[in-house]
Amino acid sequence: MRSLVFFLSVFLFSCGSPENIEVNLIPKPQKIELKQGVFQLSKQTNWQVDSVFLAESSYLQNITQAKLLGDDNTVQFSQVQGLSKEEYKLSVSSKTLKIEASSAAGLMRGIQTLRQLSDLKGDIRIPALEIHDYPKFEWRGLLLDCCRHFMDKEFVMRYIDLLAYHKMNVLHWHLTEDQAWRLAIDQYPKLTSVGAWRKGKDGQPYGGFYTKEDVKEILAYAKERHVEVVPEIEMPGHAQAALAAYPELSCTGGPFEVQIDWGVFKDIYCAGNDSVFVFIENVLDEVMELFPSEYIHIGGDEAPKYRWDNCAKCQQRLQDEKLHDSHELQSYFIKRVERYLNQNGRQLIGWDEILEGGLAPSATVQSWRGMQGGIDAVQSGRKAIMSPTSHCYFDYDLAAIDLEKVYSFNPIPDGLTTEEEALILGGECNMWSERAPQETVDSKVFPRMLALSEVLWTSGKKDYSSFYNRVQNHYKKLDDLGVNYGYESIPIYSEVSYANQEFKFELKSSTPNLYIEYNLNDGAWQEYTKVINLKETTQIKARALKNDKPYGKFEQTVHHNKSTGRKVKYLTNYNSSFPAKRELTLTDGLLGSGTNFRDGYWQGYSQENMEVVIDLGEIQEIKNIESSYYQYNLSWIMLPTDVTYFVSDDGVNFKEVYHKRNDISPKKEGQFKHSFVMEASCKGRYVKVLALNYGTLPDWHPAAGAPSWLFVDEVMIL
Ligand code: ACM
Ligand code: ZN
Repeated sequence: MRSLVFFLSVFLFSCGSPENIEVNLIPKPQKIELKQGVFQLSKQTNWQVDSVFLAESSYLQNITQAKLLGDDNTVQFSQVQGLSKEEYKLSVSSKTLKIEASSAAGLMRGIQTLRQLSDLKGDIRIPALEIHDYPKFEWRGLLLDCCRHFMDKEFVMRYIDLLAYHKMNVLHWHLTEDQAWRLAIDQYPKLTSVGAWRKGKDGQPYGGFYTKEDVKEILAYAKERHVEVVPEIEMPGHAQAALAAYPELSCTGGPFEVQIDWGVFKDIYCAGNDSVFVFIENVLDEVMELFPSEYIHIGGDEAPKYRWDNCAKCQQRLQDEKLHDSHELQSYFIKRVERYLNQNGRQLIGWDEILEGGLAPSATVQSWRGMQGGIDAVQSGRKAIMSPTSHCYFDYDLAAIDLEKVYSFNPIPDGLTTEEEALILGGECNMWSERAPQETVDSKVFPRMLALSEVLWTSGKKDYSSFYNRVQNHYKKLDDLGVNYGYESIPIYSEVSYANQEFKFELKSSTPNLYIEYNLNDGAWQEYTKVINLKETTQIKARALKNDKPYGKFEQTVHHNKSTGRKVKYLTNYNSSFPAKRELTLTDGLLGSGTNFRDGYWQGYSQENMEVVIDLGEIQEIKNIESSYYQYNLSWIMLPTDVTYFVSDDGVNFKEVYHKRNDISPKKEGQFKHSFVMEASCKGRYVKVLALNYGTLPDWHPAAGAPSWLFVDEVMIL
């Protein structure tokens, strides 16, 4: 069979008049061959459907709004042997449209291909072709976090349809959290009467939950489309909403409120209390009664051990079970729940923290803190699902994960044996919703999920430019589906460099064919064509057009000062997860914001001081040194305890010119930036900045005992 570069439009001729029917499929099918002719689906079409496929056939007929007029032609849905579960063969000629599959799931994937070939409305014309298609990975998922923000039933169903449309097959439904419990459980009504509601910004209860009837409706909708819904019931951590309802399940007895902030919280289910396991088993009984999925996700991530370490019951459990530490206690907890699920014919999935203290015998690991958790799982004979923060976290900014980055994702890490590779079920994108209420979810998931759908479905060599072209043609389908998609990458960003005593500022975009215009200090707008040389503090505004439509705005101020563009020597190591993107990040004149530590300007040090030396090129008069830091204690980011500045003429002998102990409380809530400013006259060529890391998080902190971060941006010298 001949494979074609198939995003090109195909010209088909019918009734003597030229016609242009576009074949533009995402994910790309494994094999496609275009033919001459067109099949016209109409109300006269004969349907010949094998009895196993009647439900799928009704699904298609229900979404089809064909005209009455048409040819005498036939749709055939035939069951054949020898194809894998989701494999299908689609064969279209002017007389026959045939899908062969061995299972109803395979037929449904073929039907979704038809939906992309035609909007199935009015004059339905499907180009003649042959497709043979099957998935590369069996697990192609999206996590929807319906806890941080409630998403209504219709929205969840719409996402199931969008998954099916792109041949994704798993909705990982995150249903319980610190900030909400969303699933009605008959035996524990307070889980939703208390746990589904937190205090909103206006002081009123904010939230919602799914009744069992809602869930049944959602599951029926998913079943029709052959999408598996895997519920996640979090334990032992991220459980504060349940503890607000039933505080006796905690180590301290509470009381608790449903959490209103984001982060990791230390009050978790008590592992020493048998009634906790009775509760969990009762909840899981009702979950298993509702959800037919083979897998049940039990979370397992981000469970601080502080309460367990200080709880008599948990310590007694440690002794009774001959466990060495709280990690082994977490392992005990997960294994006990796994046993219960297995007894009921279900499989457990947990986030990669379930590896700590010993992995449960048949657990499947969802690797999120990189790929290593998944590697460890498959090397010990367990299955893994890959959703590393580097490529799969769609709550992250486009600055961190853009369309091309998602397309570059490979769920199979290097160095595994064939048997180990086979244990990687696939991948999943995660739509955490702390900063994504329902109305913004589309703009974060799309178009990035298109890339993931192709990565997980299509085998063979990747071709980003073919994919990218198909994405451009796919937008009108997303428009028809009412998807309010976002950008492919940051529309406009800046890059600065310093050479030949000149500080250069560039406006850039990874989106092709953008028209960009800009102004300086609110002066006249002009087309951006070349690098801008900056010699003083300047505000730059820019805006872009794509296909004559607005495509993003940009605004930035370069704070020009004596350090601008100067080389930085690092005496300690920043963490590779937070390098800040630019080589000159501490001296680029661009300041990190006080509202987003992931904005690409903040450099992070984990359990490490920051010590850097800036070379001003020659001995200079210095009147002012300022460096800025971030605090967001719920994200474990703390101001330094001390900041010291030194100057030197030779880069060897340094003299202290400033020292200050931080006097802002580490308990101060929210996120903000804080600067340490020296105002005194001195001279020198080299300026050294030493900022001391806060160290281990203290007892009062929700994640007591964990290492803290030091975040810094910009050292300014006047
Ligand atoms: C996670 O993002 N805490 C799994
Ligand atoms: Zn306890």
